[in-house]
Amino acid sequence: MSTPNPGGRVLSGMRPTGRLHLGNYHGALRNWVRLQYEYECYFFIADWHMLTTGYADTAALPHYVHEVLIDWLAAGLNPGVATLFVQSHVPEHAELHLLLSMITPLSWLERVPSYKDQQEQLKDQDLTTYGFLGYPLLQSADILVYRAQHVPVGEDQVAHVELTRETARRFNHLYGREPDFEEKVERAVKALGGRNTTLYRQLRRKYQESGDHEALERARALVQGVSRLTVADRDRLLGNLEGTGVTILPEPQALLTETPKVPGLDGRKMSKSYGNTIELREDPQAVMRKLRAMQTDPARARRTDAGEPTRCPVWDLHQIYSSEEVRRWAAEGCRSAGIGCLECKQPVIDKIVEEVTAMRGRAQEYTENPELLRDIIAEGSEKARDTARETLEEVRRAMHLRTD
Ligand code: TRP
Ligand code: SF4
Repeated sequence: MSTPNPGGRVLSGMRPTGRLHLGNYHGALRNWVRLQYEYECYFFIADWHMLTTGYADTAALPHYVHEVLIDWLAAGLNPGVATLFVQSHVPEHAELHLLLSMITPLSWLERVPSYKDQQEQLKDQDLTTYGFLGYPLLQSADILVYRAQHVPVGEDQVAHVELTRETARRFNHLYGREPDFEEKVERAVKALGGRNTTLYRQLRRKYQESGDHEALERARALVQGVSRLTVADRDRLLGNLEGTGVTILPEPQALLTETPKVPGLDGRKMSKSYGNTIELREDPQAVMRKLRAMQTDPARARRTDAGEPTRCPVWDLHQIYSSEEVRRWAAEGCRSAGIGCLECKQPVIDKIVEEVTAMRGRAQEYTENPELLRDIIAEGSEKARDTARETLEEVRRAMHLRTD
């Protein structure tokens, strides 16, 4: 039973880097959990993406895939609502990637900011590979193969969504023309019926003559609202609005959500590579031990030294976990040396212990019955494939390749 599709289709992916931490949770996962009830969501574990940097050592990959899936479920992703799957189980991603690679100029890939950045940062790996250069295009295929409208990602991934849009535009431009397009559009416009036919023509003219975006939006809504159209006619009508022909691959949007800053135990950003994390399913005793030892404002060397919360990473955790009242108490106590750091940390410790305990509770069923995970992946991947197959059929047809 999946959500109809009230807000459109959402797609996002995560690399299987092993157990997730609170930074991953507050930075992305928590948002996904909310989105699954508002959109038709596809979330996948990007194991092929992992290979674009971690190709030399793949032994732990299956284990990491399972750990990430357990964390997703622990965080509240619901396989009865969202489609959860593994990228390599849906080979259509690879086929679309290959086809898109034929029309993607090298310069588009070379200028993606993460290309040079990552090569600099991951100096110990040889990233002068074909796969690494093509990684953002694989991401484009991930998105376009589901014709997703929205892609929830962080700031660092916006350039990849932008590349996806350019790629879709180029594809539609090259292959979105049927020989008898004009005729077919005319028939589809008539199929809208009566008032809608007239309105569609008016809105299209308005948009094409004066670039009126509101008219474009209204015309799109009109087309979407007529339920008896065939998929092909709907695509023709949408494509015809902008004069591009058929939109085979619609352009997605990045969905940016405000996320809190999640500090690691050493005060730097929480990140697995810094070894400063609290895992989603961390043992409560370890949570307490780690947080008690967490970095605070260095000005508070002694209990009697006053501090400044804005210089303290624990304060960032208060922003996430504490009520306004507790935050006021902490800030005042810190600045007046009225409370000690351990005291100040206690409400945060309590909340995080509560959170990880709930996560561990939800995860238990799956750690005890790993066959449940296999079922979820098999079912989700099958569902994803059904959607991906439909896209590929249209893509192949548009490119004059075989269809089956
Ligand atoms: N590149 C993303 C990351 O490293 C993961 C990812 C792969 C992704 N394919 C995607 C995210 C498609 C959004 C959409 O975090
Ligand atoms: Fe940080 Fe709280 Fe200590 Fe102030 S009292 S330095 S805010 S932990």
